[in-house]
Amino acid sequence: MGKKFNYSVRSLSQCENIADFRELAKRRLPFPVFHYIDGAADDELTKDRNTAAFDEVDLIPNVLAGAEDIDMSVTVMGRKSALPLMLSPTALQRLFHWHGERAVAAVAERHGLWFGISSLSTVSIEEVARRWSGPKMLQYYYHRDRGLNAALTQRAKDAKFDAITLTVDTIVSGNRERCKRTGFQTPPRFTPANVLSYAMHPTWALNFMFREKFDLPNLSTHVDAGSGQSISIQDYFNSMLDPTLNWQAAEQLRNDWGGTFCLKGIMSVQDAKRAADMGVDAIMVSNHGGRQLDGSRSPFDQLEDIVQAVGDRVEVICDGGVRRGTHVLKALARGAKAASGGRLYLYALAAAGEPGVERAVSLLEAEIRRAMQLMGVNRIDQITPAMLAKR
Ligand code: FNR
Ligand code: LAC
Repeated sequence: MGKKFNYSVRSLSQCENIADFRELAKRRLPFPVFHYIDGAADDELTKDRNTAAFDEVDLIPNVLAGAEDIDMSVTVMGRKSALPLMLSPTALQRLFHWHGERAVAAVAERHGLWFGISSLSTVSIEEVARRWSGPKMLQYYYHRDRGLNAALTQRAKDAKFDAITLTVDTIVSGNRERCKRTGFQTPPRFTPANVLSYAMHPTWALNFMFREKFDLPNLSTHVDAGSGQSISIQDYFNSMLDPTLNWQAAEQLRNDWGGTFCLKGIMSVQDAKRAADMGVDAIMVSNHGGRQLDGSRSPFDQLEDIVQAVGDRVEVICDGGVRRGTHVLKALARGAKAASGGRLYLYALAAAGEPGVERAVSLLEAEIRRAMQLMGVNRIDQITPAMLAKR
């Protein structure tokens, strides 16, 4: 949705919504890093569709309901969440801002939200568990290296993580054309095409060069790629992740883990039923923020059929495209237990570190509260499909 009038964003205090954070991140990041966050697969149709889908249904409010004390809390995977919003797992966060996952974990704890630590996190499973008490999931990439897989599971157990979320939509990498053009790699590789952009962002460059050495501590115990050896995400996926990942392997992982288990990247009713039959606790209906199969449907568009099919057996989380509190309420009205997102906090992290994430989550919290009041509801369970109408 474009701006209704012309303004520019140059500071954190001028950020009033997620789009503003995106503008500030674009200003403050070397372009390879910004386009890694902002980019998606192929023509990026699905990324755009993920958000546009919310704008094709309208909320129908009730009034005179005297919505005073608003309770926005829900329980997801057995843990209380102060909002029906989860911070999805995203990789490489200390490349976006040196605060990295530490910022996101601290804000999630402060606001009582679930957050996800990616397998490709730049802060270790152990440190996150030791320092922050909020409900947390380890997002699990199933690697070719069986020793690494076993170590990830054991480390999540030892760290007493609340859930393992197996990502199932990355059997091969999506086609990340922006990263090909910018030369984005992890750790960053400076090329004639991008070195100027890194040099012209001295705050970012100095932090990257002189603060804590870049590492992927959940992986570098077993593999060098991505930590010591620079590689594109597309090549990392295609060389390091196991393309034989199937339902049997997922079930084996669930049994090895023995705890709360979620599948991230389910999009079809058929797979949702299979996940429910397998006894997973939750599914994240997701297309990876449009970064994998471009042309796939948006999670919000898929939600109704999936909730109808399995909503009584598993918790359904709508992941992707969320940029407003009203998007969260629309997902709930379609039967999601919660909504989740990555860019909704990543732009803010990249733009301004922990204060940025704090402001973004606070703005979304205020938007959810205000929308509930204007909808005439003061509890989440009062939100029903009758409150939505297709255009
Ligand atoms: C992601 N996402 C992701 N997902 C995952 O399972 N493991 C990961 O390591 C990452 N890393 C990652 C990095 C970046 C920069 C982005 C933008 C996304 C996908 C993420 O969990 C989530 O599914 C999407 O971000 C949802 O779409 P929105 O909210 O960004 O529109
Ligand atoms: C991505 C991977 C890391 O989407 O999930 O970039």
